[in-house]
Amino acid sequence: PGLWRYVAGGRCQSAARLEGKVVIITGANTGIGKETARDLAQRGARVIIACRDIAKAEAAASEIRAETGNQQVIVKKLDLADTKSIREFAENFLAEEKKLHVLINNAGVMLCPYSKTADGFEMHLGVNHLGHFLLTFLLLECLKQSAPSRIVNVSSLAHHGGRIRFHDLQGEKSYNRGLAYCHSKLANVLFTRELARRLQGTKVTANALHPGSVSSELVRHSFVMSWLWKIFSFFLKSPCEGAQTSIYCAVAEELESVTGQYFSDCQPAYVSPHGRDDETAKKLWSVSCELLGIQWD
Ligand SMILES: NC(=O)c1ccc[n+]([C@@H]2O[C@H](COP(=O)([O-])OP(=O)(O)OC[C@H]3O[C@@H](n4cnc5c(N)ncnc54)[C@H](OP(=O)(O)O)[C@@H]3O)[C@@H](O)[C@H]2O)c1
Repeated sequence: PGLWRYVAGGRCQSAARLEGKVVIITGANTGIGKETARDLAQRGARVIIACRDIAKAEAAASEIRAETGNQQVIVKKLDLADTKSIREFAENFLAEEKKLHVLINNAGVMLCPYSKTADGFEMHLGVNHLGHFLLTFLLLECLKQSAPSRIVNVSSLAHHGGRIRFHDLQGEKSYNRGLAYCHSKLANVLFTRELARRLQGTKVTANALHPGSVSSELVRHSFVMSWLWKIFSFFLKSPCEGAQTSIYCAVAEELESVTGQYFSDCQPAYVSPHGRDDETAKKLWSVSCELLGIQWD
């Protein structure tokens, strides 16, 4: 039980209720996102499951509705590998909903063979960073009007291995799929940092987190990692355990005005020196805007 508790990690202790609150969770049809959705639905929130695979998302949503008795668990189409889809999602959301209290940027890909999004971005950077960057940009006014509100970016311990390679952002000169994941997770940390700085005084907070090593479908693109994940499954968190820090960042009362931080196991955690580099954070911000053709200042 000692080892099990150690592997399970921290639990969100908050009993906060979320009736009347609107939450978006990207990639919530499976894994950590689905368990985050289940918990927030249990707390009474209106939960928008934003996914590219609608059938898989509907299955998750109906399971959560049946289990929690919360009928306000809704599926919306969102493909983060296509800026057109992101814009359609945001337009549709803003037309149908009045408020947004929590945005959880959870969806992610790992270890993809070299590939590009519809807009020609390297897949990890495109989905994990640029897709969420654009989504947040499009929803920010609504978050501000719903304040106090929160943005939660699911990053990873893997950010420690990342660098922002401005000279080859799309990995066209050299590509390593493990590193590409690390770079994109560092981008999540730097985005959070710069976003929090810009949102000072708005009562919209932005925090990042590492969920732990979690048994999920994330390793699906790598045969070797899929096996390792099976062999060492005893040392992995369950998706429910892995969701605890996301839930903590989304609901904990004591984080109401905490922003720009990075958590793991429901506690502040160590950020790599690269993840604390304000110059890189600023440059990444402006390059991201250029790539997406948006003006965000
Ligand atoms: N598992 C871990 O050990 C671990 C460790 C550190 C950080 N994380 C982070 O935790 C987050 C959740 O990962 P997970 O472990 O729960 O993995 P997962 O089970 O593979 O879930 C990832 C989710 O992202 C969605 N997604 C992927 N590409 C998308 C796209 N283009 N548009 C919209 N949604 C997309 C997937 O949807 P489909 O199923 O439709 O593809 C799925 O719902 C990720 O950001 C990951 O980097 C995980």
